[in-house]
Amino acid sequence: MSNKIAVLPGDGIGQEITEQAARVLTALGLELELEWAPVGGAAYDLHGHPLPETTLNLAKSSAAVLFGAVGDWKYDSLARELRPEQAILGLRKAMGLFANLRPAILYPQLANASSLKPEVVSGLDILIVRELTGDIYFGQPRGVQTLSDGPFAGDRQGFDTMHYAETEVRRIAHVAFQAAQQRQKKLCSVDKANVLETSQFWRDIMIEVAKEYPDVSLSHMYVDNAAMQLVRAPKEFDVIVTGNLFGDILSDEAAMLTGSIGMLPSASLNASNQGLYEPSHGSAPDIAGQNKANPLATILSAAMLLRYSLNQGAQADRIERAVQQVLEQGLRTPDIHEANTQLVGTQEMGDAVIQALN
Ligand code: IPM
Ligand code: MG
Repeated sequence: MSNKIAVLPGDGIGQEITEQAARVLTALGLELELEWAPVGGAAYDLHGHPLPETTLNLAKSSAAVLFGAVGDWKYDSLARELRPEQAILGLRKAMGLFANLRPAILYPQLANASSLKPEVVSGLDILIVRELTGDIYFGQPRGVQTLSDGPFAGDRQGFDTMHYAETEVRRIAHVAFQAAQQRQKKLCSVDKANVLETSQFWRDIMIEVAKEYPDVSLSHMYVDNAAMQLVRAPKEFDVIVTGNLFGDILSDEAAMLTGSIGMLPSASLNASNQGLYEPSHGSAPDIAGQNKANPLATILSAAMLLRYSLNQGAQADRIERAVQQVLEQGLRTPDIHEANTQLVGTQEMGDAVIQALN
């Protein structure tokens, strides 16, 4: 297995947060080969495309990708295929990164950061397993057409297509059941089977796959109810598995339960454990370049990278312990700052984690 890591900082705060995560990786003293390339709006500015061929080839030939964030309002008027978001969608598709793992963990040191009552969220530890390369995100046909009949004949109509192939559902089901086996052995599959054919099919396959995992208890929930239960009693969940669109929405909701989206990493894996690792938050162009961004989600993403793509679980633990330690020390970037803690910048937070590694 190669030790090459593609570092794709992207836009906004992407630059400064990946820089800190790369410093942490380097400080471990492993034989890692870090190679940088532009992506998103930054790549569009340089090469006229958000995912240039050279960046894509670098990503594909690496053991893992460390990704910052993409997007900036200044690219909003570009054609869809040139917008920064297409870079991340393109990487997911081209690398076959179908399994997206998004943990939502409430750090005890940050218990007051949540907008929910402490007793509702204290000890929260949920894992969302989101299918990432199918569903309405990639379904064809899609576009805008002029209607030839029906009540809106002559009107233009925008449309997308939701579908899931059996293989797509089965492989994400296996990832989710196996993740649940490593945790509390509770898996909740979220769908909209009361309305959508795609969802009923999804549910049927989940029930079939469940037979291979008798030690995991499988439940099902409609997505609207799941959105509600996540804020009512989030600790009832252990692992949630869901499709691409519902997973996009629920994972933001779950992240916010912790009140500190700046702390949450994510992993997107393909069948051979090649992966892309990125913070759950966006590019925050409003605070870019001001040494204000929280690098911890990206640093924790680097830990996931070591664990899942480089088989270096002990090194991942080392990073996670170091992050716990800087929180213990009371160091806080502005997004998680509260009374009686020490306000630090992006760079200082990175320094502190590196110091705590040893
Ligand atoms: C995410 C993001 C992306 C998505 C966007 C940037 C295309 O919201 O990773 O959740 O919708 O998947
Ligand atoms: Mg999203």
